[in-house]
Amino acid sequence: MHNVAITGTGVFTPSEVITNDELVAAFNSYADLWNAENADAIAAGTVEAKPHSSSEFIVAASGIQQRYVLDKEGILDPARMFPRFTPRPDDQPGFMADIGVDAAQKALAKARVDASDIDLVICAASNMERAYPAIAVEIQQLLGAGGFAFDMNVACSSATFGIQTAADMIRSGSIRRALVINPEICSAHLEWRDRDCHFIFGDVATATLLERDEDLTAPHFKVLSTRCATQFSNNIRNNNGYLRRTTDAMEDRRDMQFMQNGRKVFKEVLPMVSKHIADHMADENVTAVDLRRLWLHQANKTMNDYIGKKVLGRTPEPEEQPNILQDYANTSSAGSIIAFSKNSDDMAPGEKGLICSFGAGYSVGSVIVERA
Ligand code: COA
Repeated sequence: MHNVAITGTGVFTPSEVITNDELVAAFNSYADLWNAENADAIAAGTVEAKPHSSSEFIVAASGIQQRYVLDKEGILDPARMFPRFTPRPDDQPGFMADIGVDAAQKALAKARVDASDIDLVICAASNMERAYPAIAVEIQQLLGAGGFAFDMNVACSSATFGIQTAADMIRSGSIRRALVINPEICSAHLEWRDRDCHFIFGDVATATLLERDEDLTAPHFKVLSTRCATQFSNNIRNNNGYLRRTTDAMEDRRDMQFMQNGRKVFKEVLPMVSKHIADHMADENVTAVDLRRLWLHQANKTMNDYIGKKVLGRTPEPEEQPNILQDYANTSSAGSIIAFSKNSDDMAPGEKGLICSFGAGYSVGSVIVERA
């Protein structure tokens, strides 16, 4: 068995930002338009008027202040409320491959590793822009990586499940180096016309480079242990799949976009995640005082504050549990990796931390690391 290290991470951040105020102004214009179009039915009491959204609610309910997106204009157009992605011909890189390659190149540069030395590329994300060929194989070719590549989807836990998958192959000796890449184009599966969730997501791509922990000279993180768990739930669901075009009248079905029962998610996921982390730490003889930092999934500030407090047994200091969701919103599987990537270089050798993601499935994945 070989030991495993994380030697580099990379983050691609889109150049376009939507603030809460911009988002709310567009949503409210959309709601006004819709209410005007449906004025008769609203007056007759057969449909309900769409209420306005508010920036104050968004910050209070989630902690999110803005989000990065690939196409701001389409999302903020009250007559559209959806990003505009012009389909690309098959001989051009896809959207996910494009941003995934950017993040991967940053991770490779950080670790000073050449793409040709990569044996495995996993594209792990909550939505794939096509069924096949795998996005990961396209990324492998664009990077000039060797070995093999495949896609996997565990929704918000895709990154940590991908890390465990790659780490297990490195441990067993079947590969030496792997890139786990998370291009999350969440703006394309968010229903921007639904007030209950229109503020939740943003776009980003992250990459994590894992290597056999041998002859490494630059600072890196030892992967001490990984653990994944799942438990079926319909409370976060997206029905858009290969059956989409097989029945009539599918055009504007709400269940083809992100759906959630946010309150239930809140109540059911928190105990699952807290227990998962506690059991993982106990089995690895890691106690709260051993942990310098938590890099948690970035869905909701209240959830993270609750989990941080449960794990450490006290309110974490901001630097012990860094949040990035105020800037990026929920970026599905990429969130904990952005937090890790932007808040780990200052750690001293021997200090330990825990990466944890959770979400649809339900799923929860944790990675205990130590600075070396
Ligand atoms: N603007 C203004 N008011 C809004 C609003 C908006 N955008 N969205 C909802 N509201 C209203 C609701 O209609 C409700 O009004 P009511 O009390 O009159 O019915 C009130 O605000 C509270 O809504 P609720 O949905 O109960 O809010 P909440 O405090 O539970 O927060 C979530 C909502 C979704 C942010 C929260 O439940 C959450 O974060 N859940 C977990 C989400 C998660 O992790 N999902 C994983 C995704 S991968």
